[in-house]
Amino acid sequence: MFMDDLFLVNPKAVIGVPHLKSFCGDAHEILVLKVWLIAIANIFIRVLAKKHSIIKEPKLKPTNKIWSLCSQHKQSPETNSLWTKTGVCGSIAYRTLVWARLTETVTLSTFYYLNPSPNNTSLSTIMSTASARRVFHLKLDPLTGNSEWVVIEEEDDDDDDNSHQPLLATTSYLDMLNDSARNTAFNQAIQKTITKPCHVLDIGAGTGLLSMMAARAMGEQGRVTACESYLPMVKLMKKVLRVNGMEGRIKVINRRSDELSVGLDIPSRAHVLVSEILDSELLGEGLIPTLQHAHDNLLVENPLTVPYRATTYGQLVESTFLWQLHDLHNNEAGASDGIRLAPSGLDSVLSVKKQQYAMHCDPIREEIKLLSEPFRIFEFDFWKRPESYGETELCIKATDDGRVHAVVSWWVLQLDQEGTIYYSTAPRWISSPTITSPDWCDHWKQCVWFVPGSGISIFKGKEIHIHATHTETSISYNLDTQAPTTEILHHSLTAGDFQLVLPPERTAIYGDEEWRLSMLKAVQSSLQGRGQPLCLVADDSVFLPLLVAQLLEAPHVLLLLPGLKERGLRCLQAAAHANGLSPNCIEVLEKRVKQLSMHDTYHKKVDLLIAEPFYVGHDGMLPWQNLRFWKDRTDLDYILSEDALIIPSKGIFRACAISLPDLWRSRCCLSKIEGFDHSVVNATLGACGHLPESEEGPCLPFSVWQCGEFDVLSETFDVMEFDFSKQICQCQGKSQVKFTKTGVCHAFILWIDWVMDLQNSVVISTGPDKRYWKQGVKLLGTPRTVGPRRSKNVQACCSAVLKASFNPSNGELKIIPDFL
Ligand SMILES: C[S@@+](CC[C@H](N)C(=O)[O-])C[C@H]1O[C@@H](n2cnc3c(N)ncnc32)[C@H](O)[C@@H]1O
Repeated sequence: MFMDDLFLVNPKAVIGVPHLKSFCGDAHEILVLKVWLIAIANIFIRVLAKKHSIIKEPKLKPTNKIWSLCSQHKQSPETNSLWTKTGVCGSIAYRTLVWARLTETVTLSTFYYLNPSPNNTSLSTIMSTASARRVFHLKLDPLTGNSEWVVIEEEDDDDDDNSHQPLLATTSYLDMLNDSARNTAFNQAIQKTITKPCHVLDIGAGTGLLSMMAARAMGEQGRVTACESYLPMVKLMKKVLRVNGMEGRIKVINRRSDELSVGLDIPSRAHVLVSEILDSELLGEGLIPTLQHAHDNLLVENPLTVPYRATTYGQLVESTFLWQLHDLHNNEAGASDGIRLAPSGLDSVLSVKKQQYAMHCDPIREEIKLLSEPFRIFEFDFWKRPESYGETELCIKATDDGRVHAVVSWWVLQLDQEGTIYYSTAPRWISSPTITSPDWCDHWKQCVWFVPGSGISIFKGKEIHIHATHTETSISYNLDTQAPTTEILHHSLTAGDFQLVLPPERTAIYGDEEWRLSMLKAVQSSLQGRGQPLCLVADDSVFLPLLVAQLLEAPHVLLLLPGLKERGLRCLQAAAHANGLSPNCIEVLEKRVKQLSMHDTYHKKVDLLIAEPFYVGHDGMLPWQNLRFWKDRTDLDYILSEDALIIPSKGIFRACAISLPDLWRSRCCLSKIEGFDHSVVNATLGACGHLPESEEGPCLPFSVWQCGEFDVLSETFDVMEFDFSKQICQCQGKSQVKFTKTGVCHAFILWIDWVMDLQNSVVISTGPDKRYWKQGVKLLGTPRTVGPRRSKNVQACCSAVLKASFNPSNGELKIIPDFL
């Protein structure tokens, strides 16, 4: 369909796109991206001719490809290996993903900007001469799995409808701006550092907060350049500067800092750098390449910088929970179903990526045994050009007997040169007389590095050697004597060819004995008395196909694997072989649900349609977005036999009232931040707390146990049911809330419990007491004191109603809490 289009733009121009090679890494990906970039460029040239500012083009095939390219390499919603691996461009793309984390929107804004001039179609030229800019958001429809491009233009009217949409609600900006310890530390350090008029460069300016602080510190004179690569943020920044009367004092540049040059974008090198482009791991947002480029090209010699320095620390810990998040091979060893997803010799077939994972460790403090004192790992000075690569050898004495399952790490930021202003991401069990712990926030967490296999056994007083290395964008560790004790068997297959990288939560689910037993029971009971049924696994589960195949007499299972596709099949076939099954017992139907016909099922009707449901790429989404299963089941109706069994048989939409003070505070409406009015950004960032009466905040996906302090205040109640034996339809529900405890209610938590059999005896809950799933959190505009009917607190509200409605056309679930 795009063959004609492909030649509208000279393909060579695409090869010239700076950094594209380093961004992609692998030749196949480069090719795929090149082709799609050409196609995309042409689509937009056509669209430009029509002068559309927002494009919704569901037929755009490239989007699916690029989405799958992104999700293929995605290890978790928060981290993305593909992007982190490579140079500046890679890390910038990564950063954009980080900032769009927990969202179904992937933004590919930083590596192709198009000039609207139809005369100039060369991408490489366009990138450097673009005057008006636009970003392309890739938006996934969770119900259909389709994706579409949405374009945001620089010229879009600021007061258009979009400015009232919570477009950036699932990013970390709101939480970051609500982090008052961070804001105050930067303000104090900027005031201390910038004492006279000079030229200040703010790299990654966001809403312009640090730029405004710098401008204020200098008085009426001096120059501030605010450089921000992400167009939606640039638009917000301009609004913020306007309401604060700072428009004329700060020059905004919508570029990556490594696209700036002296003489063209800024008149001279800057004397001071202010910048906050740090992620939980410190380096993941491209700190090193950004500083390198800035020192080489944009800053004077010996510039002043805020922050001044960052130091990373680590601590050795034992934790069964952390071990379960990565070691599928050993965790499934005792599984009674007999299936081995990561069998000996192929134990890396399903594995987590070797990288640090951002996680709040305080909630698991009780389950952690500290095995060492904290130790210093790396130091990064912002005021000098950093090295791309570094390594250090550490010799750490064990403070207790135990098994080292992980290295928990954090960083401490020294914001001023004198060392009086600090910010730390350390867990609360680390106390320091000079550094106060900031309030809970979601944008910075600790990091966890999993020690391979079942860890290393150590004894108190003995030493362990740690080899720590950092690249431009990540830090990794190698612990001595860490070789896993697993016996490597000689096998006709090798893992490398079939490896599937999973997020830690997925790995833990597959290794969870209770979960597997539930699945076993459900599948066993669904197959009972059915002879040789035709089974179709509808989702991306890699456990269900093996389980079904193992339980069938003549195994042959059809799969959709809508997200995993070919690489899922290869991994499954390897696992099938290792489990004594024929690799051919598993067959992937390489079509979209709507295109399937009886021809694909060998003219047999499907007797068992089954799913967990789990879809790759949905991990960070609201739980009801897995109702894609219901939509698919509806589209498959014509190939289902009359008495086809649908597993799960239904989904029960459940809720409870909760006290959630930390999350609520972090998502409050912004007013003044260090004296600068930020109220204009609230709607776009999806602020929930302190909202005006008439407005409602969005429902957002969070793992409640990772959201700071929380206390459940009501019984769990059912709001409505989704009956999968029927076609997808509109649903409505209304439930009375019974408060069981007196407390301040900040939110309702919502999730789906999947009923896996017709007898309602096997239920997989994804509620707040489960750590491996995300729940939907509907924060209240105003928290309410609630209590049971007989509560002594007369002010406590003892009755509330929760209404919900599900729209099958877009998968949206509307939730309306009402306190009586
Ligand atoms: C953590 S936010 C900080 C925003 C703001 N400085 C603040 O402190 O409130 C980082 C921002 O930097 C942008 N960014 C990161 N690296 C950049 C670079 N090299 N050039 C331009 N923008 C960058 C991201 O798009 C993001 O908006």
